[in-house]
Amino acid sequence: MDTANIQEIRDGARMGVISGVTTNPSLASAEGIGSSESYKAAVREISDIVDGPISVEVISLDAPGMVAEGRDIAGWIPNPWVKIPSTVAGFEAISILSKEGIKVNQTLCFSVNQALLGAQAGSTAVSPFIGRLDDIGLEGIDLIRDIVSVYAKHNIETKVLAASIRHTLHCTMAAQAGAHIATVPYKTLLQMAQHPLTDSGVARFKSDWEKSGNS
Ligand code: E4P
Repeated sequence: MDTANIQEIRDGARMGVISGVTTNPSLASAEGIGSSESYKAAVREISDIVDGPISVEVISLDAPGMVAEGRDIAGWIPNPWVKIPSTVAGFEAISILSKEGIKVNQTLCFSVNQALLGAQAGSTAVSPFIGRLDDIGLEGIDLIRDIVSVYAKHNIETKVLAASIRHTLHCTMAAQAGAHIATVPYKTLLQMAQHPLTDSGVARFKSDWEKSGNS
């Protein structure tokens, strides 16, 4: 799930389909989280709800700052993935953190080349932002397909995590393109479960059952 909203995470987790949570400073700030301490408290609560990796993003723009934040975040919860941006400083930080055994979700990826550099630096997962590419008139799904294909060609183990998902078609197409993981807003997760023929089918089965005198 792509949210820092605790209630949404509780509701999503009850469906039994959540294998991790991604957060970022914008999502945290939307929940009124305005300090490192409150971010840490929220992340710990999320980690108690979801049994899987929780991605937590650094704020620093320079490599030493990212590394210091990453080391700190790594101690917050049992299964952290530190989110580091796809920048020159970010690759430096990824290479240091990954060598220390800290898992990294390389964020804000918009090209195959950034995905290649991240994999070389040791990213556990790379997050291509498909919705933001669509927003500027490009085809975000093409980037997922291209990274998956290049990684497969060179036996690269970094996972492809489809991010910036805006709607249910993104979910289907990201899976078809070979993304290993998708991070999905709660509203889209609920829409994935919906189909009008399922709703009318359920209603008809119930009414037919009741017509026969059953209750
Ligand atoms: C996830 O890791 C990203 O932070 C998130 O999907 C960004 O989505 P947005 O483009 O809707 O902000």
